Amino acid sequence: MTQIDAPDLVLQPVSVTRKMAASLPGLRDLAQSKGLKIHHLGAGYPHPEVTDPRGFLEHQQAYFDHVIEEEGLNDPEAVPEILRESFSYTDTLGPKTTRAAFAAVYGSDWGVEMDPDRLIPTVGATGGINLICSLFERPGKPVGYITDAPTYAGFTARAGLCQHARIFSVDMDEEGAVPDRFREQIRSAREQGFFVPFYYTVPDGHNPAGFSFSQARREKLLDIAREERILIVEDAPYVYINFASEGDRPSPFFAMAPEQTVHLFTGSKIGFPGPRVGFLYTAADLTIAGGETVSLSEMALTEASSDVLFQNPQALRGFEALLHDENFKLRESMWPLAEAKLSVYRENREIILSILERELGAYPEHFEWTTPGAGFFSVFSFLKPDTATDDAFVEKLVSEYGIVVIPMYDFYPADARERNPGAGLNQLRLSFCFSESTGDARRRDLTEAVEALCTAVKKESNL
Ligand SMILES: Cc1ncc(COP(=O)(O)O)c(C=O)c1O
Repeated sequence: MTQIDAPDLVLQPVSVTRKMAASLPGLRDLAQSKGLKIHHLGAGYPHPEVTDPRGFLEHQQAYFDHVIEEEGLNDPEAVPEILRESFSYTDTLGPKTTRAAFAAVYGSDWGVEMDPDRLIPTVGATGGINLICSLFERPGKPVGYITDAPTYAGFTARAGLCQHARIFSVDMDEEGAVPDRFREQIRSAREQGFFVPFYYTVPDGHNPAGFSFSQARREKLLDIAREERILIVEDAPYVYINFASEGDRPSPFFAMAPEQTVHLFTGSKIGFPGPRVGFLYTAADLTIAGGETVSLSEMALTEASSDVLFQNPQALRGFEALLHDENFKLRESMWPLAEAKLSVYRENREIILSILERELGAYPEHFEWTTPGAGFFSVFSFLKPDTATDDAFVEKLVSEYGIVVIPMYDFYPADARERNPGAGLNQLRLSFCFSESTGDARRRDLTEAVEALCTAVKKESNL
């Protein structure tokens, strides 16, 4: 007998990444007992080489000192405003200075006139996903979420928390979600009685699909979203972790149609994940109960005010410091910040793609992999039906070859696996963002990791 009856609650399935994390120490020991080196191609974390906080902390302190100096306090006993603000309860919108700085710099980078009062601070992009989901789940009626197959595991996990929400997933080709399938899924959800508020996607550096949507595809999807009157929730952690040259970068949805888009920015990849800085931005209006028109940001603010309520003002002011250069001048662009990170990711991407090509380019009928325009991942596919990338296969890669990768099948929503029980079962997600080493050791470790993977897949494919 338990203490509490909660017959309507269901236990959410454990994600494959969590399962992997749990089984990894044992598999690792097994691999190491055989004298194997552990090769990291699994973790989706920012690289330690570009997330050393010490330089940032110095800059943050200097920026705070500068702000205090600017305040020009005469009384040496008086507590400076920025200190008081950083350690007090703040508004749900967080410090205005941070939003104003971010709206100016980010808006200029993407050609959008951003209203700082429509920027809702969130606890990373994760908090943005949560906020937009809970807003539309509030009425308690069946909600249909349209997303890609495969899609980001954090979105599936969040959608799974709502027992009256169901995912309707859209298959993708090499340009992005397939337009006809997109429209069909919106209509199918509606026919089954679901309210469809939005389509959730990661158009730049898709996690886990390992590519960026083409410009033409974005335009088609946007046309459909407009015709069908649904929002596009654009999760954008990798817009700056971008490998395309300036003229070739596709446009984020919020730059094409801010009134149709909910844009989720995060400081996790351009800055640091720990401080949990993010913003939800939208210029959309909604027609709500009684035919009233309200701005979605207003609705989101109300939702946030009973959820997070008080943002972390110090983390936000720290992010504001990042938006100012070493002379405390507001940056004209965030691209120079990105460039510091890109030096490592660009090099890692080149290592992984060039070794895959060198070692496996002769077997186009056996293997293929995506070329990421942005982000941290490439998806590797086995084209012959004899290899199933299930848990047993992935565990074998660790225990017999020391290689850590993530299988793709779990990133396919349940409906995609019903349509195709083999979905993702020939794919692995390779990440090139993380290793424990830095500099030359990083280059060497990643090179060895990709070479080990190539050897393993050839052996497993009897080549
Ligand atoms: C697509 C996507 N969304 C959201 C997140 C989580 O971001 P945050 O740290 O801002 O919560 C990640 C992180 O890996 C991601 O890849």
